[in-house]
Amino acid sequence: MARNVRAGLLATPKDLSPWPKYFYDAEGSRLFEEITRLPEYYQTRTEASIFRQRARQIVSRARWRELVELGSGSASKTRTLLDAMFEARAPGEEVRLRYVPLDVSESALKESGRRLIREYPELEIHGFVGDFERSLEPLLNAHTKADDGESSGGRLVVFLGGTIGNFTPERRQAFLDEIRAGLRPGDHLLVGVDLVKDARTLEAAYDDGAGVTERFNKNLLKVINERLGAGFDPDLFEHRAIYRTEKTRIEMWLRSRVEQEVYVAGADLSVRFEAGECMRTEISAKFTPESVRRMFAEANLQLLDLYTDERELFGLAFGARA
Ligand code: AVJ
Repeated sequence: MARNVRAGLLATPKDLSPWPKYFYDAEGSRLFEEITRLPEYYQTRTEASIFRQRARQIVSRARWRELVELGSGSASKTRTLLDAMFEARAPGEEVRLRYVPLDVSESALKESGRRLIREYPELEIHGFVGDFERSLEPLLNAHTKADDGESSGGRLVVFLGGTIGNFTPERRQAFLDEIRAGLRPGDHLLVGVDLVKDARTLEAAYDDGAGVTERFNKNLLKVINERLGAGFDPDLFEHRAIYRTEKTRIEMWLRSRVEQEVYVAGADLSVRFEAGECMRTEISAKFTPESVRRMFAEANLQLLDLYTDERELFGLAFGARA
């Protein structure tokens, strides 16, 4: 973290957006859950409604035995899929379904795991604590019990919420390459993508009236204070969210209200901010059906379907190895 934050603060313009995971300490995770309930933040509820409409159709496309969820968080959307997977089994079918969540937050994993075991006594759960950089390869190549012996059935790998939009284009492709490398014949991938729409709707989703996204953005400074002994005063920064049409992405920034110098002990660094200087903290890419197809194709993945809502606000991209 010290190395990353140092690099980000020494960049021009200052840029912490390559490391979105630092937003999510306990308070950041709580603030994000609050964001998902905001009237302006349509993503989460739209994705959930696509699941409610399409879960049966999705699970009818293959007979998966395992659901792998990358960045499972509170695993709230997973239930709709699990319900459909259980329902789709033939009566009396003996097969056990397995749920394999990966998340950076051990507490979130344990909590959602406990809840799911209670709700689905027949479900086998194998959770992984870790982040995408380090844990993807071992996770996707892990040979679990059911792989021994007779056919284990395929896996559905899901990466929901539009989180893929947080990656830089290079990082995004590397991530998809890695997922593709872990997919076996019969496995599929389902990725939640936020879709391009008018700038006003997008900017409102990242600059809500209640100021929750502003607190979420500034919480990044508190995380850096806590973990790297930095001296950021969040009140000396302003929250900005702008939609960059040519890059089809939202960018969140923090704008220094004053000229100031901030010491970051853990990164052995003192940084100056001019009055009005802006530091990028997050990107959130938006897609079109065509750009989703291209992104998949570049990773040697075939886009089999793009499920959307009636207003085409959000999409679930369904694919497999090309
Ligand atoms: C969790 C990455 C999907 O980019 O929309 C919400 C994070 N940032 N408001 C997004 C976020 C500001 C969110 N994702």
